[in-house]
Amino acid sequence: MHEFRDIDGKLHCEKVSVAKIAKAVGTPFYLYSHHTLASHFAAVDGAFAAVPHITAYAVKANSNLAILRLFAGLGGGADIVSGGELFRALKAGVPRSKIVFAGVGKNREEIAEALRAKILLFNVESAQELRVIDDVARKQKTRARISLRVNPHIDPKTHPYISTGLKKSKFGIDIDTALEHYKLAATLKGIEVVGVHHHIGSQLTDVQPFVEAMARVLELVDRLNDHGIAIRYLDMGGGLGIPYQNEEPPSPREMADAVLPLLRGRNVTLILEPGRVLVGNAGILVTKVLYTKEGEAKNFVVVDAGMSDLIRPSLYEAYHEIRPVARTSRPPRVVDVVGPICESGDFLAQNRELPSCEPGDLLAVMSAGAYGFAMASRYNSRPFIPEVLVKGNRFFVIRARETYRDLVRGEAIPPFLKNA
Ligand code: LLP
Repeated sequence: MHEFRDIDGKLHCEKVSVAKIAKAVGTPFYLYSHHTLASHFAAVDGAFAAVPHITAYAVKANSNLAILRLFAGLGGGADIVSGGELFRALKAGVPRSKIVFAGVGKNREEIAEALRAKILLFNVESAQELRVIDDVARKQKTRARISLRVNPHIDPKTHPYISTGLKKSKFGIDIDTALEHYKLAATLKGIEVVGVHHHIGSQLTDVQPFVEAMARVLELVDRLNDHGIAIRYLDMGGGLGIPYQNEEPPSPREMADAVLPLLRGRNVTLILEPGRVLVGNAGILVTKVLYTKEGEAKNFVVVDAGMSDLIRPSLYEAYHEIRPVARTSRPPRVVDVVGPICESGDFLAQNRELPSCEPGDLLAVMSAGAYGFAMASRYNSRPFIPEVLVKGNRFFVIRARETYRDLVRGEAIPPFLKNA
């Protein structure tokens, strides 16, 4: 459930009118509900309370410091994929003992930083990476705790761009060769094997793939045990879907009920890496109608947010509900909601029935809290837009709107061009 609802015909986030925030910060902007974020975290974390576990929030979904801090305050850890995310997690106060580091392309510097930070473990994705981590750890006269990310060949039945556990995937180590990799890892002096990691995809709307993947991974854990390799951490990644339109994904509790029986009698700490399910429906993108255009073949609503702010519709043809911030009785029309970017692919919705819009109207793009701001760019030299967090009847700007000066920070015209 989320806290964006109509009160007297006006969209509110918790107790604050969205239009009021728009007046204060301008448009477009991202808006998040504190209560929704906190209750989503509690739902996931609470569902797995029966077993030792770490809820390591997938920072990539929304990496704003305030959000990281909020989850850390509720006992959360962090699943990171870069030195930048490590920096953010530490700055936000995420305990280092709850940070796990995944990704197919960690570089030596990032590995060294994470070792110095004494994170819980690395989720290792290849034999070469394992050797580099070993080398960096030995140079630091330490040992790196690792899990291998295995690829259990499960079809998560989601968008191909976000399914990650199939044979053809660039992610992880084929589960059939995992034993060999673990044997190698066990011989490396700079490596301490502690776990197994898997993550099969994102926006899953069925528990079955989670269960099948876990069952396969547990067979591996048993085989490892037979070879004297003890597994203390079992990381099942993230991937739980959310309703964008008509999807009916399992609740965290249903997911836990399906998965936890498999773990009975096992002495492991479960690691979860939820991203979307925590933040997706806790955020919206608020945008203003600039123009309406009647075309021969189509009607367009041109808004001030575009693919640089929310790329999911363009990249995955993702559906995001769009609703007027102020209720209206104007008749519906079928329109494309498009942004100001100079690309035909710059749309937020296509062939969408919306109450007819007029310049100045505010629209809310729903379910935009995950992979929204996090995937934003400055394409077309558009400054990053603000992020605002509502708690009760107050709102807080948790990222200021960028200025033009921010756009060119770090750029330099070399001397030979200065006199030209
Ligand atoms: N753990 C690992 C290793 C991951 O690769 C991901 C997401 C997660 C956890 C979190 O998954 P979630 O719970 O959010 O499904 N940009 C795409 C989604 C990419 C997901 C990448 N990995 C989108 O906008 O749909």
